[in-house]
Amino acid sequence: SAGDIAAGEKNFRKCKACHAIVDDAGEVIQKGGKTGPNLFNVVGRQAGSAEGFKYGKSLVEAGENGLIWDEATLAAYMTNPVDFLRETLDDSKAKSKMSFKLRKGGEDVAAYLASVSPA
Ligand code: HEM
Repeated sequence: SAGDIAAGEKNFRKCKACHAIVDDAGEVIQKGGKTGPNLFNVVGRQAGSAEGFKYGKSLVEAGENGLIWDEATLAAYMTNPVDFLRETLDDSKAKSKMSFKLRKGGEDVAAYLASVSPA
């Protein structure tokens, strides 16, 4: 992977208003809000499929079409979620419930998320 895990962990502070990272045993790795889904094990997970989270339909559709998150797709998504979904779905009207955009350091945050994706 191209990213720096330690730098990504620092940058993850920008995500914590909306995302926590809690493992399957309930251990809190990152305390965070619940506006967005739990990001534990997100690498290798089908997009839009965390238990119990109510996603927008575009992200669910992307997952149903076969989008499995990896570091490259995560970095692209967090840089601009709506553009990413519009390109992925080839649908200029696709919508994202995540409006936040990470200007830089996406590869590092993606590497950090991979480090908390043991499965
Ligand atoms: C979804 C990452 C910041 C709100 C997601 C997903 C990822 C992600 C990977 C899709 C997860 C899945 O498919 O299960 C990040 C990262 C952030 C960040 C790395 C910081 C760099 C934020 C912030 C907010 C937010 C600040 C709220 C203001 C959401 C919401 C969704 C989402 C509501 C669901 C999107 C939908 O259903 O269309 N985020 N996020 N995120 N995030 Fe974030």
